[in-house]
Amino acid sequence: MKALVAPEIEAYAESHSMPESPVCQALREETHRTIEHPQMVVGPLEGAFLKMMTQLVGARRILEIGTFTGYSALCFAEALPSDGTVITCDVDETSVALARRYIAQAPFGSKISIRMGPALETMKTLTGLFDLVFIDADKPNYLNYYRRSLDLLAPNGVILIDNVLWSGEVLKQPAPDASTAAIQELNRAVSTDPRVSAVLVTIRDGVLVVRRAG
Ligand SMILES: C[S@@+](CC[C@H](N)C(=O)[O-])C[C@H]1O[C@@H](n2cnc3c(N)ncnc32)[C@H](O)[C@@H]1O
Repeated sequence: MKALVAPEIEAYAESHSMPESPVCQALREETHRTIEHPQMVVGPLEGAFLKMMTQLVGARRILEIGTFTGYSALCFAEALPSDGTVITCDVDETSVALARRYIAQAPFGSKISIRMGPALETMKTLTGLFDLVFIDADKPNYLNYYRRSLDLLAPNGVILIDNVLWSGEVLKQPAPDASTAAIQELNRAVSTDPRVSAVLVTIRDGVLVVRRAG
């Protein structure tokens, strides 16, 4: 992933934002030592943003698409009230094994429940409304995840969609690959969807923040 923000600016922003919990720090470090593609972890600055969004929305029920090693799920769990819950979905047993270990030792880990299997299938089985949905998995399914998330979104809820700048590749026409094309299509669909208001925040690799219009 290409850094879109200068590293010294990123470090300054990080040092003036909510701190990373000790369990998240240890998990991030172990992910970097032992797991392939550790850059998929959202990291301390976006993690602080996710915690802030959780608190601003007053979220109690969160759905996450893309657990990986559990870093963002732990950020949500830390910011939720004691009766809050996070359902997080993934298909990869190797990374989720690490997530399970850290979730078991985190003081707020019992709020998290992991659902294994393709997220679209899992989403079909879910009932009730979510205050916050975080989409951070396979890019070709982003538009499908967005559509299903709108069905599951509470009236004042928020959908957060990660990597919507895709290292800046979204500027290229024609799209160089299927993932870039899928993200471009998602960004176009959300920004022209009359049912929602959205802002594309240039934090890390880009986060699209979406809520119902009106
Ligand atoms: C970018 S990582 C998630 C990072 C995580 N949110 C964090 O910050 O620590 C994307 C994850 O999506 C998972 N994934 C890919 N395709 C999926 C699918 N169809 N259903 C569920 N998860 C999927 C991958 O296995 C991977 O762990």
